Amino acid sequence: MDQNSDIIILGIESSCDDTGAAVLLNGELLSNVTYTQDVHKAWGGVVPELASRAHEARIIPVVDAAIKNAKITKQSISAVAFTRGPGLPGSLMVGVSFAKSLALALQRPLIEVHHMQAHILAHFIKTPGTEYDPPEFPFICLTVSGGHTQIVKVHAYDRFEVLGETIDDAAGEAFDKTAKILGLPYPGGPLVDKLAQEGNPQAFRFARPAIKGYDYSFSGFKTSVLYSLQKWQKEDPDFSTKHLNDLCASIQFTITEILMDKLQQVLKVHRVKDIALAGGVSANSEVRRRFAELAVRQGCRAHIPPFAYCTDNAAMIAASGHFKYLAGDFSSQNIMAMARMEM
Ligand code: KG4
Ligand code: ZN
Repeated sequence: MDQNSDIIILGIESSCDDTGAAVLLNGELLSNVTYTQDVHKAWGGVVPELASRAHEARIIPVVDAAIKNAKITKQSISAVAFTRGPGLPGSLMVGVSFAKSLALALQRPLIEVHHMQAHILAHFIKTPGTEYDPPEFPFICLTVSGGHTQIVKVHAYDRFEVLGETIDDAAGEAFDKTAKILGLPYPGGPLVDKLAQEGNPQAFRFARPAIKGYDYSFSGFKTSVLYSLQKWQKEDPDFSTKHLNDLCASIQFTITEILMDKLQQVLKVHRVKDIALAGGVSANSEVRRRFAELAVRQGCRAHIPPFAYCTDNAAMIAASGHFKYLAGDFSSQNIMAMARMEM
């Protein structure tokens, strides 16, 4: 390894309930460690104060493990990249403070990363043993996570144009909140996906938004699931248990339809060669399937991230840091976490 020209980026992620650290060597993944906090399960959602404390307890072992798995020394790190926002303020603060102290101790540059941009740039992580075939600029990315839902036109590593976004709940929240209505534990998204495999997606119909333009809305859909279920449960108290698979399949089908409808409208106007999927909900089997179908219909190439890069991870933070490092885009030691951030 040539110590002078090699770029080794340590990435740190702590925006929500995953504590992550990853190491990239010249853009290629050496290690990626994620600790998913399980303290929130009992509460049916992420409890911010518990998340901050769990990050505090885990950040050192997680970073240590990432460095150890990468088989590098701390001294060989070229820069420390970290999630500045958006996310939970207390959780972000743990990662930001840790990254600042480490960069200061090592006398290395500090690189702030935007969490939502990082989800998109996960497509540019070089993974050993797999072909590197990233989307070509400009491309359209559908970013679907627990906190955000956006259609973004990506012009370059550092130029993101938001074409549409949710005006209320995110797609992940739509999954998690409707799963909660069905009595499923948090996070409900992956469970709905699993149960939907054995269900009929046409069994039940739920409301879809009728808003103009490229923005999303999931609140009407969520309310329609709640009211329909209250009515059906009144008639038969075992309704949701008896029809769980069909309910999950129908919920998953409707959320996916809502997502693909708007994306298709965008693609008719913004002609691009490549389209990409990003964020936690891109792990969903129906979303992945329908996204690939849409790409074929539109004559585009579909880029669907491997599962490890869908949900929150630090590899995507390190990848974003890598491009900023090449551009010399560094942050000062005065930097603070930002719960809300423009793209
Ligand atoms: O991107 P992410 O890990 O965290 C945020 O930045 O929000 O996304 C988490 C979201 C959760 O709402 C979770 O339920 C959802 O992604 N999710 C899924 C699946 N896997 C994760 N939703 C539906 N189906 C899945 N297989
Ligand atoms: Zn995320």
